[in-house]
Amino acid sequence: MFKEEDQIYEGKAKKVYKTENENEVIIFYKDDATAFNNIKKGSIQNKGILNSKITTIIFNLLKENGIETHFIKTIDERSQLCKKVTIIPLEVIVRNTLAGSTAKLLGIEEGLVLDTPIFEISYKKDELKDPLINDYHAISLKIATREELDNIYAQTKKINEVLKKFFDKANIDLIDFKIEFGKDSNGKIILADEISPDCARLWDKDTKKKLDKDRFRRDLGEIEDAYIEVLSRIEKL
Ligand code: C5P
Repeated sequence: MFKEEDQIYEGKAKKVYKTENENEVIIFYKDDATAFNNIKKGSIQNKGILNSKITTIIFNLLKENGIETHFIKTIDERSQLCKKVTIIPLEVIVRNTLAGSTAKLLGIEEGLVLDTPIFEISYKKDELKDPLINDYHAISLKIATREELDNIYAQTKKINEVLKKFFDKANIDLIDFKIEFGKDSNGKIILADEISPDCARLWDKDTKKKLDKDRFRRDLGEIEDAYIEVLSRIEKL
């Protein structure tokens, strides 16, 4: 279906291929895993398959809830046909419970449940380790306009509400997650990239067991099993 010479981009976890349609691409999910900005490298068996399946379930759920995404259809277990977008170089992070970098930054123990979620943006620049910025940086540096940020935050709020409820039904707490947006051929801002245990913290509600990439980052073992657990719980919903 797609050839190596058609590859237009290779990221840390995915490859992108062009298609005969200039407005569509094929996204291939790899098993490669990186953490701490490429300092830790490895591979999680079948991660590409699991993340492609998890993202597909979530993007279909979001579509049913009126959120447009780049996802068009599944091609095979590791590949998806998606709308071609120009990625806005922002990582949009939502925190429902304090964990990870912000817990560390503020010297607060992981696990503080937030009544009001924290929205953060960071500038997608690997060599600078994706620095945390605010709206003023984004606007002044022309990364996004005020209107575009408002649009992104409104979509992000809705995505968080839908996903929190969804994972709750799977007995999983959605601790935090990172999403990316892109502009389609009409300039419309839509959700792109993926939503999977690679970019979300997911804790079992009862045991607080981590079912996400922190198992790789923190050498907790049973990484593939955790991703399988997430998929099997949400597949049943
Ligand atoms: O590391 P930090 O606490 O800032 O991560 C917040 C959330 O964003 C986590 O779910 C993490 O998996 C995700 N993230 C990501 N890619 C990054 C940074 C964070 O997917 N480059």
